[in-house]
Amino acid sequence: MKQGGSDAAKRAAGESAAEAVEDGMVVGLGTGSTAAHAIRALGRQIDDGLDVTGVPTSFQSRQLARECGVPLAEVDEASIDLAIDGADEVAGGDLIKGGGAAHAREKIVDASADRFLVVADPTKAAESLSVPVPVEVLPAARTTVAATVEELGGDPQLRAAERKDGPVVTDNGNLVLDCAFGPIEDPERLARRLADTPGVVEHGLFVGLADEIHVGTEDGVTVRE
Ligand code: 5RP
Repeated sequence: MKQGGSDAAKRAAGESAAEAVEDGMVVGLGTGSTAAHAIRALGRQIDDGLDVTGVPTSFQSRQLARECGVPLAEVDEASIDLAIDGADEVAGGDLIKGGGAAHAREKIVDASADRFLVVADPTKAAESLSVPVPVEVLPAARTTVAATVEELGGDPQLRAAERKDGPVVTDNGNLVLDCAFGPIEDPERLARRLADTPGVVEHGLFVGLADEIHVGTEDGVTVRE
C-alpha cells in the first residue's frame, strides 16, 4: 500500500472535501488517515453550529466521529448526500481501496451517496491501477478464491495482522486477500470477475464511482471532477 504522503497533504485534501458539506447533510465517513482529517474538520464545523449526521464505514471512523462529536446513523437508516473517503491508488476516476480492510462498507456507503469525494495525497496518483487489490472473503472460501485469483493472473496473499499472530479479520468477521495483478489494463472487467467469484464478499476496485478527487499537497489542493 502507498502510505508515503505527508500529513499536511492529507490534511489539505480532507479539509477541502469537508468544505463541500452543507447544513442538514448526511455524510459518509471514510476510513484511513486522510478521511480522518475530514472527520475532524466536520467535528469543528459541528462545534460552529453545522447540523450534520455521519454514516461511518468502519469501527475506526465510528470511534473518531464519536470523539469529534459527530452524530451518527447506520447506512440502512439514512440516505447519504455526500461521502468522503480515501484511496490507496487513484488512476483517472478509478480507485483501489481497502488498505484499512474496510472496503466492503466503504463501497456500500460511497456507492450509495449522491456525491462521492475522494481525498488523497499525491503519492496515491498513478497512470494505471497497479497496487494489490484487497479482496474480502468468507473464511471458508479463502483457498477457492485464491485459486480463482491465480487463474486471473493474480498473486493472492492472506493479509496478516500487524500486532499479533494470525490474519487480519474485518469488521464483518472475514479475511482479506491482497491480490497483486501488476498494472490492471481493464479494471472494470477484473472488478466483474472478482465480484462473480463465490465467497468474495467485496473487492477494493472502485470503478467509476468517484465524482471528485481532492489531491492535497503541502501548498494547497487540486480538485478533479
Ligand atoms: C481503508 C481505505 C483507505 O481509505 C485507504 O487505505 C487510504 O488510507 P490513507 O488515507 O490512510 O492513506 O481504503 O479501507
